[in-house]
Amino acid sequence: MNAHELRAKYIEFFISKGHAQIQGKSLLPDNDPTVLFTTAGMHPLVPYLLGEEHPAGKRLVDCQKCIRTGDIDAVGDPSHLTFFEMLGNWSLGDYFKAGAIEMSYEFLTSPRWLGIPRDKLGVTVFEGDDSVPRDEESAAVWKRLGIPEDRIAYRPRSDNWWGPAGATGPCGPDSEMFIDMGTEPCGPDCEPGCSCGKWLEIWNDVFMQYNKTAEGVYEPLTRTCVDTGMGIERTITTLNGKKSVYDTEIFAPIISAVERASSYAYGSDGEKDKSVRIISDHIRSSVFILGDPRAVSPSNVGAGYVLRRLIRRAVRHGRKLGMESPLLSPIAAVIIEEFCGPYPELRDNRSYILEELNREEQKFLETLQKGEHEFEKLLPNLLKDPRRIMPGRLAFKLYDTYGFPIELTEELAAEQGMAVNRAEFEEAFKKHQELSRTGSEQVFKGGLGDQGEMAVKYHTATHLLHQALRKVLGDHVAQRGSNITAERMRFDFSHGAPMTPGEIAEVQAIVNEQIKRDLPITMEIMSLDAAKASGAIALFGEKYESQVKVYTIGDFSKEVCGGPHAERTGLLGKFVIQKEQSSSAGVRRIRAVLE
Ligand code: ALA
Repeated sequence: MNAHELRAKYIEFFISKGHAQIQGKSLLPDNDPTVLFTTAGMHPLVPYLLGEEHPAGKRLVDCQKCIRTGDIDAVGDPSHLTFFEMLGNWSLGDYFKAGAIEMSYEFLTSPRWLGIPRDKLGVTVFEGDDSVPRDEESAAVWKRLGIPEDRIAYRPRSDNWWGPAGATGPCGPDSEMFIDMGTEPCGPDCEPGCSCGKWLEIWNDVFMQYNKTAEGVYEPLTRTCVDTGMGIERTITTLNGKKSVYDTEIFAPIISAVERASSYAYGSDGEKDKSVRIISDHIRSSVFILGDPRAVSPSNVGAGYVLRRLIRRAVRHGRKLGMESPLLSPIAAVIIEEFCGPYPELRDNRSYILEELNREEQKFLETLQKGEHEFEKLLPNLLKDPRRIMPGRLAFKLYDTYGFPIELTEELAAEQGMAVNRAEFEEAFKKHQELSRTGSEQVFKGGLGDQGEMAVKYHTATHLLHQALRKVLGDHVAQRGSNITAERMRFDFSHGAPMTPGEIAEVQAIVNEQIKRDLPITMEIMSLDAAKASGAIALFGEKYESQVKVYTIGDFSKEVCGGPHAERTGLLGKFVIQKEQSSSAGVRRIRAVLE
């Protein structure tokens, strides 16, 4: 079975079970200050898991592009990926444990679907702790379906609890499904969930029962939900009896492209194979980030920084394989061809993707040259040390000031018969990380799915601001991004010039006037066409279902939006624009607060 077939079968199966197929969303979450990328299929659905009504109904299925960069340094081994596709089905207050498990079981074992023999399956359930009881309910369903007791393992919270995806949000115990690879157990305690390689996880059914708040309290949800996730790459690997995701048809064309560009045959040298895998994974992720409707460019902050790291690491490993510049874009072109079927946005943004990759590659090559030059300047002094040790703080300075990677400093040093004091480098590096972590912790403030009272008010203020900007500046104004915390809102929109102080004052006055009018906010579900025909604004680059929610604020604004919103504008308080500045070419950014 290949990835396209798996994707199609999964969707077809859940449609046959009364689910509505919804569109996977952007890789760059809108309105979520807590994370840089969409990390799971449930991510764009958080408001609905917390109680909002979904326009497509209570049973949903989709395929979602995801990026997880927590393990970026582990990429290169046979199993880690930064980009992956996740299939998922959801129950929003509809079926719960029994329904979810029965459907999972049928899809996995029925010859009509995946046809995995029952005796190859093993499962885990939550063993319980002080706050949540052992999940006997799920275990009983598995038993009833014929999974023998010795293949149902009770595992702790560290294994069988999922979420929240950020600091706060929906979460609960889960039940995971594994395939027995047929190898000998690693010992008497080897059971499903064991990481020895015998049991490979392919699916996870999460039973969303709680909302973790910013205070760390687990509030029971009034409506329980199911969130499931099946990683396409991992499942294809397992179903085809492969040892590595990189040995599947998903990666075969990418690896061939790297082989062609490097004249290196994959499989002949362990270290070089690792480079091939890093290049393949990192370019694939970069292509999807750059091809996203909300693409970011490589930069030194946030998602742009992750993109820069991915690109630069791929270039570095490309050079190790002797690849010549431009080394990224020819491989990216192959990736675009391979994936533009299910992801047509890659074809639409093809030239942007290739140009940005070439530009960043060029920039990095200049950095490397500069770093080499700086190293040469340091050399006469370094050679005076009879021990031939380069101080770690100098290596760190090259890294910090010129972005020169430590591995390259070590290579250059080795050419001169020198070693770098790695411990000293690591120490300087750690200090630097602690400083930047303080920055990224800020990102987590507010919490995923923060539907607190203030966040909801800011959300409504965003609609008022959007409409006020269109009135003052013109209809070309379109939302390009929004970011809300409990303390402030940020709004990015298309507009070619800085706003004048007069325009800013006028926009602010219009928003405050609507607040004073205490307009009611109402919601209707309708088809996307009807929404557009009614004059509702839909967001640039967003994919919508055929049925959407439209929020109307009195006679002032109408937008397609998932909600939630305040009930009346009078609840918002005073709206104050604190700053208007450039965000990127042709995009302005407003920062505002409600006082
Ligand atoms: N959200 C769950 C996961 O990512 C299904 O595993």
